[in-house]
Amino acid sequence: MEENGRIPAHVSIIMDGNGRWAEERGKERVYGHASGVDSVRACTEAAVEEGVKYLSLFAFSEENWNRPEHEVHTLMELMVKAMRNELPVMMRNGVKFVVLGNRKRLSDGLNAMIDDCMSQTAANDRLTLVIFLSYSGKWDMLEAAKKLALELADHPERRADVENMRTEDFSGYLVTAGIPDPDLIIRTSGECRLSNYMLWQAAYSEFLFTEVLWPDFRKDEFRAALAEYAKRDRRYGKVK
Ligand code: IPE
Ligand code: IPE
Ligand code: MG
Repeated sequence: MEENGRIPAHVSIIMDGNGRWAEERGKERVYGHASGVDSVRACTEAAVEEGVKYLSLFAFSEENWNRPEHEVHTLMELMVKAMRNELPVMMRNGVKFVVLGNRKRLSDGLNAMIDDCMSQTAANDRLTLVIFLSYSGKWDMLEAAKKLALELADHPERRADVENMRTEDFSGYLVTAGIPDPDLIIRTSGECRLSNYMLWQAAYSEFLFTEVLWPDFRKDEFRAALAEYAKRDRRYGKVK
């Protein structure tokens, strides 16, 4: 597939359905989150094998802070554990690890672990794995607008730059600066919505909604999604 350029450079996944997966098995919701970590590992490996350059995963939204404290706490602990366990695997597979989102809301322990994983993997270049944590699209755009407004307040002489700003320039103010927009966004568990994810960056993404719950989404499902993407005709508003 790679030869005819149909491998997406950036695949993004809204990892949904962990709770339902656990409930179907008569277990606590957090059991589904733990199993979802195995899907993260499987999809990361598949992405490396298929030559995808960026894999981004929506792991926790700003709105997810409103979940019961026990679930939030367990999820955050799971992230620390997963990072610790997966670091050697990422090093072996040439994976550069990046976390994007409102890190001010994360605990010091989690932030320290993130910093450690990011600095240790910074020179890896086979795949960039981006984890969106405490992220929402509206938050991202609002932060960008604030940054821009404050910059202009401090440097009024840059007014003309702002007036002449293009969409590509604004992208540079978002947390995803330097990362290409997602070519393919997958959402598992049958929900057909963005839930405040990458609102700006998803402007021309292809979407794939699948009934498969995230803990069941493994290498075969990832490869099937790439095969579906290869059939899509992207027109970007033009006539072909
Ligand atoms: C996705 O699974 C993981 C997070 C949002 C953190 P959910 O926890 O949303 O699972 P469902 O949608 O309730 O089944
Ligand atoms: C979206 O899933 C967020 C993540 C997958 C991290 P949710 O389960 O939170 O979304 P809604 O509430 O069903 O829209
Ligand atoms: Mg959900």
